[in-house]
Amino acid sequence: MTDAKKSATLTIGDQSYALPIFSPTAGPDVIDIRKLYGEAGVFTYDPGFTSTASCDSTITFIDGGKGELLHRGYPIDQLASKSHYLEICYLLLYGELPTAAALEDFELTITRHTMLHEQMVNFFRGFRRDAHPMAIMVGVVGAMSAFYHDSTDIADPQQREIASHRLIAKMPTIAAWAYKYSIGQPFVYPRNDLDYAANFLHMCFAVPAEEYHVDPILSRAMDRIFILHADHEQNASTSTVRLASSSGANPFACIAAGIACLWGPAHGGANQACLEMLKEIGTVDRIPEFIARAKDKDDPFRLMGFGHRVYKNFDPRATVMKQSADEVLDLLGIENNPLLQVAKELERIALEDEYFAEKKLFPNVDFYSGIILEAMGFTTSMFTPIFALSRTVGWISQWKEMIADPQNKIGRPRQLYLGETARDYVDIENR
Ligand code: CMC
Repeated sequence: MTDAKKSATLTIGDQSYALPIFSPTAGPDVIDIRKLYGEAGVFTYDPGFTSTASCDSTITFIDGGKGELLHRGYPIDQLASKSHYLEICYLLLYGELPTAAALEDFELTITRHTMLHEQMVNFFRGFRRDAHPMAIMVGVVGAMSAFYHDSTDIADPQQREIASHRLIAKMPTIAAWAYKYSIGQPFVYPRNDLDYAANFLHMCFAVPAEEYHVDPILSRAMDRIFILHADHEQNASTSTVRLASSSGANPFACIAAGIACLWGPAHGGANQACLEMLKEIGTVDRIPEFIARAKDKDDPFRLMGFGHRVYKNFDPRATVMKQSADEVLDLLGIENNPLLQVAKELERIALEDEYFAEKKLFPNVDFYSGIILEAMGFTTSMFTPIFALSRTVGWISQWKEMIADPQNKIGRPRQLYLGETARDYVDIENR
């Protein structure tokens, strides 16, 4: 971190404290409060971290006002149209776009790690068939620390590297097998002659009884979904990975924690929740009823797939995802399906509605991804696992960055305590 060139003054009673201000390469200035408690004896209060930078990072930048998302400085729309997922994985992990030779090497390494330890098949079989694939992913990824002992020592850079490659390579196999298990079909092993996205589709949709050919338009759309979810700076699941890792936990445990956090409907679970909501709405004429519910303060219902903590203009991922949805639906010849009609009409009405405009609520990435995944034939329960496999590289890049950072220390937030002050224990007969 560079030296602070500015400072802020905080006055409490008759005492003043100078707080250094750091200027980032992009985004708002940051007031450094690390010494505040030691010097002034006060904490800061920020539930939900709406104004708190928890780390410094060089990986991803979001300008919520402009609707801008950059990975290592490159805009997401350029990456989505010109690049492919494994190249973006390299970019996120190592900071630069690879040369052709470096990319070939990286792709070979990832491809060679796609198989799971055969013993893990038994682990999958221990789950109930109706287990949610996210529950299986949390369990299986956490269990990787019991299978890959040679990549759990976080102090060894070589082991960190192998763990990173293993996680990126094996996550599609884990997600596809969670899916196969839930629909009662045999596991399909990875194929090294297919690219990352095509291999995933093959593992999800092939069956031993017949040949399965991956349509290149569908694998391109799948790859784009992976790209658009690859990283999103310090969101809830990434912060969870960083916090879990700050205690020195092994990478598989930390990524399992990230997957668990992603599952919630306010985060990665929104894509499943959004499609279920569209199905519940069912027909265009019922949209006003749901819009009214979303606006009603006494009703906890929210329009899933709308709104974002950081984007307050538009979600640049949604713009690309919307184009992709049109391409896929066109290819599959399903432009007029009722679900899509509800989605399009809901989007139109919500964007014109004063409530949504005033609160800056517009469709986010999860609004369109579910429509594509449904059209491809995935069950809704697979939407969030696909988000998790795409986000794995982001979690790992942030985890690697954090471990290499000399300022890394255990995360330990403070609190505003409003409970009882010290009181004496009361024996049970006197309560
Ligand atoms: N429908 C109706 N009202 C909403 C919605 C919505 N989807 N989202 C926010 N609001 C209202 C909310 O009621 C509040 O109103 P008021 O100020 O009157 O209390 C105001 O807008 C601000 O909401 P907030 O909850 O304080 O905002 P937040 O930044 O904490 O939440 C969010 C962001 C994404 C959790 C929220 O917009 C939401 O729950 N959206 C639906 C779930 C969703 O689509 N999540 C996916 C996010 S993108 C993928 C990812 O990053 O995981």
